[in-house]
Amino acid sequence: MQEIVQQIKGKQTARKKFPFLLKEGIIFPPQLNLEQSSSESTAHYKSEILKGNKFIDLTSGFGIDAYYLSQNFNEVTLVEQNPELLNIVEHNWGILNRKASFINQNLEDFLSANKEYFDAIYLDPARRDQNKNKVFLLEDLSPDILQIREKLLSTADQVVVKLSPLIDLKYLISVLPGIFRIEIIAVKNDVKEAVIFLSEEKREGIMVNCTNLESGESVFTFTFGDEENAGAVYAEPEKFIYIPNNSILKAGVFNLLSERFGLKKLHPNTHIYTSDQKVSNFPGRIFEMESIESKQVKKKEQFNIISKNYPLKPDEIKKKYGIKDGGESYLIFTQSKKGKIILKSV
Ligand SMILES: C[S@@+](CC[C@H](N)C(=O)[O-])C[C@H]1O[C@@H](n2cnc3c(N)ncnc32)[C@H](O)[C@@H]1O
Repeated sequence: MQEIVQQIKGKQTARKKFPFLLKEGIIFPPQLNLEQSSSESTAHYKSEILKGNKFIDLTSGFGIDAYYLSQNFNEVTLVEQNPELLNIVEHNWGILNRKASFINQNLEDFLSANKEYFDAIYLDPARRDQNKNKVFLLEDLSPDILQIREKLLSTADQVVVKLSPLIDLKYLISVLPGIFRIEIIAVKNDVKEAVIFLSEEKREGIMVNCTNLESGESVFTFTFGDEENAGAVYAEPEKFIYIPNNSILKAGVFNLLSERFGLKKLHPNTHIYTSDQKVSNFPGRIFEMESIESKQVKKKEQFNIISKNYPLKPDEIKKKYGIKDGGESYLIFTQSKKGKIILKSV
């Protein structure tokens, strides 16, 4: 009975997360392994970045990342400490007609005995602590990348590590030398992954790509040096209001947006931009809005409420003004250089 339930749950997850596995004969692992897997869309995006001869995934898990990321390689190796999980992956890859070496070993043991050199190593460490609210450090992951960094870099041209978007990028760069690229990947504006690329080769600057998949697809590319050298222009709200995609906000790129798109920022701590002329290629949401007084907010009217750099959260605003959630119109509660403001869509 338990086995049947596991397979039904697996199919349900696959429908949303990895539909390529909805095939006769595919076996699904327990829920935790499904939850730990990447989605087909983020794995597919990452696969377009990597290519070479030999690929190894040291934390195979259910093998979703490995399946996509290894597509542009000739030889593929999967390492996984959990024997039942690796057996399932080997079985499924047989059904999918994909060849690989499946190694059931602790990756630290594998690395110390290994003499092969790879073009790319991929790791998607599992979190030891499931407490989602805690700020987490690299030491909280299994494996701890800090412990094996040197070994990894002497085993491959590039090392690619998937991390939770909750990780602090400044902290990451300060503790992990050799990062030359970061991908911040969001799906439908929900930031899912921060993927870092490491190499022993010295490279100038860290390239950051902020991507949004599945809705208004966009990529915004910059280096931290670009952001440091950029200066924002400030203004009170004009006709068009811009809210950047969450992958961009996560990367902490604020002044450069003002410079690159010729937009004015409302306040140093308000990451909302404005212009008189519409800039259609902006990577984020664009509204046409006007400033209103708080007494113009009518009770029982329906609005989508956005609160940014404002003392009250949307729920508190709803309560205070007696407004209903939803509908087509937006209210933005925020701050410009002059102080607290309310913007209403026109
Ligand atoms: C987050 S999951 C990987 C999911 C995978 N990227 C996917 O898309 O399906 C991490 C996996 O790494 C494995 N793992 C963690 N530490 C390991 C270690 N030291 N040696 C080998 N495998 C390890 C865990 O058993 C788990 O299956």
